[in-house]
Amino acid sequence: MQGTNKEFKTSALVARLIRDYLKPYFPRILLAFLLMVIAAAMTAAFAKLIEPILDEVLNNKQRHLIWPMASAVFAAFAIRGLATYGHTLLMNKTGHEIIAQIQHELIEKYMSLDLVFFHQNTSGQLSSRIINDVTVMRNAVVDAMTGFGKNLMTLVFLVALMFYQDWVLSLIAFVALPFGAAFVVVISKKIRRVSGNIQGEIGHLSEVLIQIFQGIRQVKAYGQEKFEQKRAGERVDQLKRHAIKAVRLGTLSVPFNEALVGLAIMGVIVYGGFQIADGDMTTGQLMSFIAAFSLAYEPMKKLAKLNNALQMGLGASERVFEILDQQPQVVDQRGAKNVTLKKPDIVFQDVTFGYEDDGYALNGVSFTADKGKVTALVGPSGSGKTTCLNLIPRFYDLQGGSIELGGHDIAKIKLKSLRANIALVSQDITIFDDTVRANIAYGLQKTTEKDVIKAAKAAAAHEFIVDMPDGYDTRLGENGVKLSGGQRQRLSIARAILRNAPILLLDEATSALDNESEKLIQKSLEKFRKGRTVVVIAHRLSTVKDADKIVVLNEGRVVEEGAHDALMKQNDGIYTTMYQAGLKE
Ligand SMILES: Nc1ncnc2c1ncn2[C@@H]1O[C@H](COP(=O)(O)OP(=O)(O)O)[C@@H](O)[C@H]1O
Ligand SMILES: [Mg+2]
Repeated sequence: MQGTNKEFKTSALVARLIRDYLKPYFPRILLAFLLMVIAAAMTAAFAKLIEPILDEVLNNKQRHLIWPMASAVFAAFAIRGLATYGHTLLMNKTGHEIIAQIQHELIEKYMSLDLVFFHQNTSGQLSSRIINDVTVMRNAVVDAMTGFGKNLMTLVFLVALMFYQDWVLSLIAFVALPFGAAFVVVISKKIRRVSGNIQGEIGHLSEVLIQIFQGIRQVKAYGQEKFEQKRAGERVDQLKRHAIKAVRLGTLSVPFNEALVGLAIMGVIVYGGFQIADGDMTTGQLMSFIAAFSLAYEPMKKLAKLNNALQMGLGASERVFEILDQQPQVVDQRGAKNVTLKKPDIVFQDVTFGYEDDGYALNGVSFTADKGKVTALVGPSGSGKTTCLNLIPRFYDLQGGSIELGGHDIAKIKLKSLRANIALVSQDITIFDDTVRANIAYGLQKTTEKDVIKAAKAAAAHEFIVDMPDGYDTRLGENGVKLSGGQRQRLSIARAILRNAPILLLDEATSALDNESEKLIQKSLEKFRKGRTVVVIAHRLSTVKDADKIVVLNEGRVVEEGAHDALMKQNDGIYTTMYQAGLKE
């Protein structure tokens, strides 16, 4: 992620999770904790019951205690089962609700961020945050919420029982504990770092895959299957290496802890053995103690393991919070107004802009697109035509100069209002996975069938639409795969026309059309442009020639400006040269 590079502290992360997400669930969590206490108490009760069962029932052969003791054991397990069911359900539900909330927030954040952010981060990385990171968080949150309370509680009860039974034995048993704890602390940091690497690597992998799927035609045409397979395969291997490292770190605690526990039990048996031999302790007491210690070992192990999941989860939350903390750069300025434009002209004044810090895409660009007229932008590829159009709806903010629409500085218009005044057909058209009608009416709440058809007719799209199996109800596949390039362009022009905005921006919107369709659209735009301001980027002579004004760009500067005939008078002008070459970029 670019832009932010802050390291979150564990305590800050946890505090934020609690403050922003856990707080509303406190009553429910409290209830779950209560159930955990009950479940833990039942585990301790079972360990405690071993003493009378061994000493009274089995050793002293007290017949009348057989049924009550056996029933007590059953009751302890039954109650523990019910309490576990209750707290597991409550905590899991809470965990899933919190995670869904975080996903909603991420989506909302993505929608609010501007194009700069989306250029800096690939779609693979961004979707990975919502899907993979949040899944890791979900596991951590759910595991932590169910596992942490339950195991800690069980541990507390069992340890209390052990100290109650014999504090010397307990001290012997727990002398190794600080070493185990120190180990957990050391390993935690490493696990968190590896977790970050794994999540990043998953992002890279999806990035590569998305690229391959989108460009599959090129991959096949250029015979690059093996090359792409290797490229994606390298990411898979890299991911594998990180994942194995995480497992190695996570399991490192096992041999260490086992040895510590073996040592502890050894000490308990030696000390307890001598105590029993001296008659200071009964077999039942020692067995009950060992049972409690063995039962305590399980939650201890789980807590150590839980720590792994928790560290992974914290690593993931760090990445998720990083996104949630991003601020869009293009935002409404203070005092920005809603504006309804009527026949606005578009005035570029000394506009300077660069996508990256190095170099300008536009350098002091000034021109006017007159109201009710068609202005054509022409120039070689990379001269800044698309950039000019991108700046009008404020996809990016200017670095210098100003753009005014009908006398209003675009920086002082509310973004939503500004964009509602503009219909844009961009170079990269997206057809959404929906019906033809919905695609044309995209972004409009209220439209009539009549208007949709009218727009489709104006865009020369009506005929091919009614030829489709379900007409306007035909579903268009992912990214409009069922349509030809020209059909996609006509749909997007219909979409722009239906928007009925006073400003129409067309970025090579007719490049994939045959001459026939282009003429049709040209004609309807002729009618359409009345009362509107149209800026077109085109590389067809016919489109450009008929424009009211032509602005010629070169290397981010306006080099020539005027109507076709005037420009043609400059013999060695860029326009003349381009025109003679057929005006193709
Ligand atoms: N998203 C972007 N990030 C960085 N540079 C860009 C981006 N889009 C365009 N550019 C650069 O800005 C310049 C102008 O591009 P553009 O306006 O797309 O040209 P045209 O539409 O005239 O072909 C080019 O040098 C191009 O490389
Ligand atoms: Mg372009």
